[in-house]
Amino acid sequence: MPWGLSGDALPNIVTVRVPSTIANLGPGFDVFGLAVDLFCDIIKVTKVNSDIQLKVKGKYADMVPEEVEKNSAGLAAKAFLMEFGIKSGVKVELHKGIKPGIGFGSSGASAAGVVVALNELFNLGLSKERLVPLAAEGELASAGSAHPDNVSAAIFGGFTIVQYGLELRVIQLTPPKDLRIAVASPLIPVSEKKTEKARAILPKEVSLRLLTQNLSNASSIVAGFLLGDVDLIGRGMIDRIIEPARAQLIPGYHRVREYALKSGASGVAISGAGPSMIAIVNSRRVDEFMVAEAMRDAFKEVGVMAESYVTKPAEGAEVLERS
Ligand code: HSE
Repeated sequence: MPWGLSGDALPNIVTVRVPSTIANLGPGFDVFGLAVDLFCDIIKVTKVNSDIQLKVKGKYADMVPEEVEKNSAGLAAKAFLMEFGIKSGVKVELHKGIKPGIGFGSSGASAAGVVVALNELFNLGLSKERLVPLAAEGELASAGSAHPDNVSAAIFGGFTIVQYGLELRVIQLTPPKDLRIAVASPLIPVSEKKTEKARAILPKEVSLRLLTQNLSNASSIVAGFLLGDVDLIGRGMIDRIIEPARAQLIPGYHRVREYALKSGASGVAISGAGPSMIAIVNSRRVDEFMVAEAMRDAFKEVGVMAESYVTKPAEGAEVLERS
């Protein structure tokens, strides 16, 4: 049953938990997303008489603007209320558990959580697919573009493919059980409009040769998810277009790639717009902790401190409370 069609009385408060996400996976720029259980945001929405009130709390509250227009949750809430001509207001309390600016879909999670919560609060029964473009509007706040890859994964969970057809569609695939992700997140200063800047440096045109290579690798990733083949997913994670342009933004990029692959990772990529890097690991034959450590060491060797983590695919946004 779609969210919001429970038949119970309309709620006044809805609370939603949303996972962190990894976008792109190399060649799937603005198309691929993977929800991961590394961090999460909690979003509570309450019906109020008018306007959108936004309160940001939690560990990373001081890293996120509280103005509605500058916050992805605020913008997504605004887009949602306008789209459905909803006159009443909402109070949005955002518990920021996903560190902004490190490449784990922080802004996308907040936007995704808000639209999932509002769908429930106003009992609209919208499909997940219908919520994606509304959540993507929220990305304008930090990325300057309504890219839907992170929000798709945050809403659907698992591995998601955005299909840009006449209407935006989302295809969801369940990741293989043995898939683990090793992460190294460099502790480098990140500018406020990081994603916007990381998009501004991308090539505006690409050669047919590079396009073919990326298409081939992206197809391999999809085949890997369909076949449950972690190594095939990893082998596809070679991006000839976006990562060569962004590598300059990540000190140690090449060394981190090299060390991750040498320690047994199946593939390596920048996580979203960076600067974190992720490696896909087949846990049946490789220890993901060793890979994460090797990636952190690689950063250290170029003089950059980094945090390392291991994680695995996650479910999408979940309604925790409806009262
Ligand atoms: N696809 C987006 C980008 C993800 O790479 O710019 C940003 O989170």
